[in-house]
Amino acid sequence: MVAVRQVPVYFYSSKSGMVRQFANALGRPVFDIGERDVRQSVPDGPWVLLTPSYKTGNLDNDTIPEPVKRFLRDPQTRRRLVGVMGSGNRNFGSHYQAAARDIARRSGRPVLFEFELQGTQWDVEDARDMLEQLDARFAERAAAQ
Ligand SMILES: Cc1cc2nc3c(=O)[nH]c(=O)nc-3n(C[C@H](O)[C@H](O)[C@H](O)COP(=O)(O)O)c2cc1C
Repeated sequence: MVAVRQVPVYFYSSKSGMVRQFANALGRPVFDIGERDVRQSVPDGPWVLLTPSYKTGNLDNDTIPEPVKRFLRDPQTRRRLVGVMGSGNRNFGSHYQAAARDIARRSGRPVLFEFELQGTQWDVEDARDMLEQLDARFAERAAAQ
């Protein structure tokens, strides 16, 4: 049997590292967009973005971290994006998950999963299940081609 490709998760995490902690618990290839060589690479197939939201107080209420914007500049990277996961904090009210939701809307891709801060162990399990279903769907699609 051919091994099923695990869809990689590309994440951005600030110094507080909450998203990093979640990403590292997913049990699949994860790449840190904060690293320059990762940011300058192009995913080799379908990939998932995991981003926090950061309200910076600028006029256009932008909450997408700059490294995430830079990574998404490449058209092939954008084409291969299959969905977005977000970490946020409900204290930010109407800006809750603004970055993940904004990227999803602009790219026409779904928000696959949302959690607060570093997530709970149940969030991790649910995200792992969701990503495994995604792997299986891509494997079926590849087999049908
Ligand atoms: C300055 C600041 C601004 C934030 N803005 C938002 C926001 O607009 N919407 C939201 O849902 N969460 C917001 N958050 C919460 C973070 O997205 C959340 O804590 C996330 O888990 C941080 O991930 P990280 O520690 O990996 O960077 C903000 C947090 C900080 C410190």
